[in-house]
Amino acid sequence: MDRNFALELVRVTEAAAISASRWMGRGDEKAADQAAVSAMRETLSSIFFDGTVVIGEGERDEAPMLYIGEKVGKGAPHPKVDIALDPLEGTTICARGDTNALACIAIANQGHFLHAPDTYMQKIAVGPGLGHAISIQKSATENIRNIAKAKACGVEDITVVILDRPRHADLIQEVRASGARIWLIRDGDVSAAIATCHPTSGVDILMGIGGAPEGVLAASALRCMGGYMEGILKPRNNEEIQRAKKMGIPDITKVFTLEELAKGPVMFCATGVTDGTLLKGVQFKKEGARTHSIVMRSQTGTIREISAIHHFDKKPNYHYV
Ligand code: FBP
Repeated sequence: MDRNFALELVRVTEAAAISASRWMGRGDEKAADQAAVSAMRETLSSIFFDGTVVIGEGERDEAPMLYIGEKVGKGAPHPKVDIALDPLEGTTICARGDTNALACIAIANQGHFLHAPDTYMQKIAVGPGLGHAISIQKSATENIRNIAKAKACGVEDITVVILDRPRHADLIQEVRASGARIWLIRDGDVSAAIATCHPTSGVDILMGIGGAPEGVLAASALRCMGGYMEGILKPRNNEEIQRAKKMGIPDITKVFTLEELAKGPVMFCATGVTDGTLLKGVQFKKEGARTHSIVMRSQTGTIREISAIHHFDKKPNYHYV
């Protein structure tokens, strides 16, 4: 993969973030998502690759744009890549004007992303150097103790981030009993997984069940940042089990390692839609907007933060009406 794709991708997430951010706090999740999807799709069409969306907005019959299998980019004879994307990760966050909504995208060589169905995934994620200390098959208590040991600190110094959902009641109780601290988030477990790799986020582990497609995006980011993650699909019904099988996953109890979620050279890019732990949200001025993005490549481990100023008199504006 051409390393310059990484920088091309920033334009894609910037456009999606600016468009979605016009809808910040306006209470309309669908409109925010739609704005991000349209802008991302339009910007992707100018990139010199032959891309196929493998993690996208849904199945072809459910999603009119950026559906699984959609071809994006300039097409052949340019390099073939697979694409995992979420034009607005945190639709509810954006609609509320809450923290940590992102526009994000990852690319890898063909066949290198897990074709995760639109179901749930149990996840555990940690930052660099801690992969050996965790196993999704161990209890939360054991994992927390092992991380504390690996970090040579007390269990009470560990912070676990968990989606605030009724399905996590037992997990939350167990983590509290272990003595670790918890950060309960309303939404946005891609951003939370990335936070485990960020030295100043104060987050040590992500645990719990979130979206499976988001699991592949998080894994792509962690591959670039040196973190580690495991996932197990958690389908809610037989239809989801059949869908997983159709997408090439015969054993739905399988533990997916980081490399099985996103293997080989991977590039990941995200732009903040609303202010968050790692990224500032979009700020608008009369003449334009300011965006904050992160661009990463697994091959070199280079992490670039890009703060950009956009002038709407010289490039398209993104209005919400
Ligand atoms: P959306 O942007 O699709 O709303 O996803 C937000 C999110 O919080 C993800 O970060 C997370 O993986 C998933 O939803 C959890 O799903 P649910 O809200 O059904 O618990």
